[in-house]
Amino acid sequence: MGLLTNPRQTIIVTCRSRARIMGKEVEKDNALTLDWHMPVSFKPQLYAISVGKTRFSHKLIQESKAFVVNFLPYTMKEAALYCGRHTGEHHDKIKDAGLKTYEADNVDCPRIEGAAGYLECEVVKEIEAGDHTIFIGKVVHADMAGEKKRLFHVDMDHFTTTK
Ligand SMILES: Cc1cc2nc3c(=O)[nH]c(=O)nc-3n(C[C@H](O)[C@H](O)[C@H](O)COP(=O)(O)O)c2cc1C
Repeated sequence: MGLLTNPRQTIIVTCRSRARIMGKEVEKDNALTLDWHMPVSFKPQLYAISVGKTRFSHKLIQESKAFVVNFLPYTMKEAALYCGRHTGEHHDKIKDAGLKTYEADNVDCPRIEGAAGYLECEVVKEIEAGDHTIFIGKVVHADMAGEKKRLFHVDMDHFTTTK
C-alpha cells in the first residue's frame, strides 16, 4: 500500500500521561513518528492521527486525551527515524533522539523545538481501525514557525522534500 500512498508528510506526535512502568506510577513524555494523519473537519477544526494499538504512545494518548502534531523540517529526518524505530516505554526517547521540547500552550503536552508548525489537539473521538486507533483531535491551538522545507517519507530510510 505504501508504494501507492507515499510520499506522505512525516510528523512527530508528542504526548504526556501518567503510566505504570515496572510497578511504578510515573509521568511520561513521549514522541512517535507518524505518516498516517490528516485534517478531517473545518468547523470545528479536527485533525486525525492513526496510531498502532501496540505503541506505547497509544496508551498515553488514550489516557490523557491530548496530543501535539509537530510538522517537521527535512533536517529532522534522523530524529523522525529514531522516534519511529524505538519505543519510549523504558527510555527518555525525546532526549535520546536529540530533541528539545517546551510546553504546549493549550494542552498538557511537550512541543518539539525547531518544528515547522504545531497543532495542539484534544481527543474528541476514537475509532477502531483494524490494528490501529484513529484519534480525532479538536485543534485547540495552531502555530507555524515560518516557511520550512518539510519532511516527506518515501520508504524505509528514504525521505524527500518540496522544491
Ligand atoms: C517514517 C515512519 C512512519 C511511521 N508511521 C506510523 C503511523 O502512521 N502510525 C503508527 O502507529 N506508527 C507509525 N510508525 C511507527 C512508530 O513510530 C513506532 O512504532 C514507534 O516506535 C512507536 O513508539 P512508542 O512505542 O514510543 O509509542 C512510523 C515509523 C516511521 C519510521
